[in-house]
Formats: sequence, C-alpha cells, structure tokens
Amino acid sequence: MKNRIIDVSVNTRRADAAAVKADLLAVGVFEDGPCCAAAASVNKTLGGPLKRLKQLGDFEGKAQTSAMVYTDGKIAASRVLFVGLGPRDKTDVQTLFKAAALAAHQAVDRKAKTLGLLLYCAQGKAAPVSLEQAGQAIAEGIGFGAYRYDEYIEQAAKKRASKLTATILTAEAKTAVALKKGAAIGAITAAAQSYARTMANRPANVITPATLAAEAKKLAASIPSLRCSVLEQKQLSAKKMGGILAVGQGSANPPRLIVLEYKPAGASAKTPVIGLVGKAITFDSGGISLKPGQGMEDMKFDKSGGIAVLGAMRAIAHLEPHVNVIGLIPAAENMPSGASYRPGDIVTTYSGKTVEIQNTDAEGRMILCDAIAYAKTLGCRTIVDMATLTGACVVAVGAKRAGLMGNDESLIEQLKAASVKTGERLWHLPCDDEFVEAMKSKIADLKNVGGKWGGACTAAAFLSQFAQGAKWAHIDMAGVGVWGADEKQAPGSIGFGVRLLTEFIRAQGK
Ligand code: BES
Ligand code: ZN
Ligand code: ZN
Repeated sequence: MKNRIIDVSVNTRRADAAAVKADLLAVGVFEDGPCCAAAASVNKTLGGPLKRLKQLGDFEGKAQTSAMVYTDGKIAASRVLFVGLGPRDKTDVQTLFKAAALAAHQAVDRKAKTLGLLLYCAQGKAAPVSLEQAGQAIAEGIGFGAYRYDEYIEQAAKKRASKLTATILTAEAKTAVALKKGAAIGAITAAAQSYARTMANRPANVITPATLAAEAKKLAASIPSLRCSVLEQKQLSAKKMGGILAVGQGSANPPRLIVLEYKPAGASAKTPVIGLVGKAITFDSGGISLKPGQGMEDMKFDKSGGIAVLGAMRAIAHLEPHVNVIGLIPAAENMPSGASYRPGDIVTTYSGKTVEIQNTDAEGRMILCDAIAYAKTLGCRTIVDMATLTGACVVAVGAKRAGLMGNDESLIEQLKAASVKTGERLWHLPCDDEFVEAMKSKIADLKNVGGKWGGACTAAAFLSQFAQGAKWAHIDMAGVGVWGADEKQAPGSIGFGVRLLTEFIRAQGK
C-alpha cells in the first residue's frame, strides 16, 4: 500500500467569512440569491460577480452547479466557489450534503489544504432544516466529497492534498453552537463511511474473509464499546453453518463469520438487541454457475453489504446510542474449483432447513440465511440485513435506489424514515407468500432460485423463512453498491448504507 486515505477534519466557527483565510471558500447560492446576509456580503466585497455570472448564464444557483472566482486580495480567502443550492423553499438535508460534497471534491482536486464553507444559516421559525441537521449534513458531505481511493497509485499524494481542514462558518454565535453539535455527529458518520468505501474498494486479493475479519478485530480493538469475535472454519463446522461453509468450500480462502457487538454503558437485560447482518462475498465469480467475464471485476464489491455493517458498527460505537447492536458479517469467496458446491447439492443450513442448490451464483442468500438464524440465537428480536443480492433488484428499481422488503410494517417505516434523513433511497417491494411458494423445492425444504420473475422478491422471500419469529427487514443494494458513482464522485464504492443503518439505530436508541 503506497499512501493513506485523505485525512479530513471538520470544525465550526463563528467568523466574518471575508476575513477567513482559506485556500477555498465555498459560498452557498440559492436560485434567488446568496444563502444569507454573510454570503451576500462576500459577493458584494468581491464586486458582485454573481450578477455577471447570471447574466452570462454561467451560474444561476442551480443545485449541483458551481462557479469559481479568484478574489485578488479583496477577501482573505484565495478562491471563492459559489455553490448552487437550488430553490430556497426546497432545501433539505440532501441539498446541503451535496453542496458540501461538491465543494470538498473541488477543494481536494485543487490541492486546497483549507476549506471554509458558508452554506446555510437557518433563518426564522420556518427554516426547513434545523441547524443541527445542517451541521451534520454539511460535515457528512465534506467527508464524502473529499474521499479518494488511490492507495495503490504511486504518485497519488502529489496530485491531491493529503489533509483537508474544513471549517463550517456562520456569522452568529448562537447558530455556531447548534451547527457544531451536528457537525460532530456528521464527522463521525463521514469517517465511518470513508472507511467503508476503502474497505469495499480494496480488491479481492487484498480483502479475503480472513483479512476482513482481521480488519474488524482491529476496528473493535480501537473502540472500547465494541467487541469482535470471529468464527473460523472449524467453528462454523462445529455449529453446522452449512450455508456459509457450502459457499466458501470452493475457495482457497476459507469463510468466516464476523460478529461485532456494541453494548452501551448501563445496558440492562431489558435493553433491546438489534441485529445488523451484511453479505460479504469478497469475490463473486458465480462459482460453478460461472458468471460471464465482462464486468466480473465489479464482483469485488459483492462484500458491500457486510462492509456497510462494519462501517455502521464503527459509527454506532462512537455515537453510543442506548440500544444493543450486534453486527453479523458472513464472509466467503464464491469460486469454482474441484471442491466447490455444485448445482444439485442439498445443503443443510444452520437453522436445520435444507436447500436444493439450483445455481451456485445465488450464494448471497446461502450465507445470509445462516447469519440471520444465528442472530436470533444471539437474542436479536429485530434484524436488518443488507446485501448486493440480486441483479433483478437493479432491473426493478434502477441503480440509485435499494430494494426494501420485510415482515414488519413498522420496521419498514423506520427504515424509510432513516432513508429520508440520509438520502440513501429505498423502495419497498413485496416478498409475501406468492414468492415463498416459488422458493419451495420438490426434494428439499427450499431451493436457492425462484422462477423467472420477481428475482429480488423471491430472494427476499427465501430469507424471510430464516427470520421467522423476529422483526426482519432486508435491503437489496445490488445496484447502489456497485454502480453508484457519477462523475462528481470518486469512482468505486459510495459506502451506501453506513449512514442509513447508523441513523436507523440512533433513532431506536432515543
Ligand atoms: N452478487 C450477485 C448480485 C449482483 C448482480 C450484485 C449485479 C451486483 C450487481 C448475486 O450473488 C447473484 O449473482 N445473483 C444472481 C441470482 C440468480 C442466480 C438467481 C443474479 O442476480 O443473477
Ligand atoms: Zn452470485
Ligand atoms: Zn453475490
């Protein structure tokens, strides 16, 4: 490994933006003008460039657009980046997240070491976003936009700053307090998301089930409220985790079940236990039912659900909500070899249910079913699993949303609410009896592939059979785990799910 991921720090300060020394000062602009009086004053001191930019049609404050101007010593910062916030009355946390991400992305591209952000000062009672939420969204956006994955590029450190110090600015002292509170939370979730992106981006020759388990242990060792235990092949065999073992048996890199436990201080026997389960196939070749070669390299991202759980556990353990959380990450490599599981095999899973294998490429459900059943034995009454499970889900809802299925309406609503807050979009799909029927085998309890239709729904219906007795929801993130990036983002993993799961858990712990 050649160099480290960029180190981002976020502060909040009450200051006169024009007097703040920064390599780049990001100033928010709505379609109807500067975001606040302080932003208007920066524009005025610079001689009113916003008017010229609008006349030329170069910048009109539209969301996801920006314009750079050089300050020629008129203010303390060397450059000002006007960042579009869209219509003022449509502001939400996503507006601020995206604007901050855009500013941080450009700052890193220009090797800026310091970034000031004057993006939002909630004004009046009708402010659409609270200051605390704004501080969180801006801090998360900074972390997201500053992220690069270049640890294997020799000259990378020369092409970008190695450290970015970002300061969220406001003109009022009382505003600064609330912004700061939110920014402290956002800095934690942002760092966890960047950590997850790096883990997901690392290739399958680097991240194997064993090295992923070692990373989880390293993480737990660095946070007092987090514990990690790992079931190795011998223990998986002793516990009869037939699903995880079957998928892993064809690879030279044996499977693991990683268990991360977060216990808040003062937790009693009554404190609820929530299970977060994430699919970590470190490489999905399809196994004996081999995938086509084109695009197969993207199957290093088939561990993204497990990584989302890892990242969320990191954020949760730092934020300390009052709820017990167990993160379960079944990890295996799906490879073809003389030792692989085959189509036609009948696998006895941890739950005792038998599964007829019809396609070795439908491996995610085989490792998840063991982890879900195991989560119940560890006392989880609520279980949420996350997985890059089916291509069918991408066909159904596109690459910008994840599918959401489950057996409990209120759990579905809670996840939807968290999703609205973080902007990681979900779409509710069915997985009821009709789909369970499609998963019944003539020679075993279940089979691992349904019929031609509703592949995301039949996959979820399969999992539902192992979640019985618990409140359970399933997030199929196949599309967003692999193809989430656009030209404004670093290529590779977007760390989908880290903030979503963290927000969901924080809401439970309130
Ligand atoms: N990991 C894949 C799903 C996937 C596909 C993720 C595309 C990201 C992008 C999963 O293990 C898989 O191969 N699923 C099969 C299931 C089928 C054999 C029933 C699929 O979707 O084709
Ligand atoms: Zn597969
Ligand atoms: Zn897979």
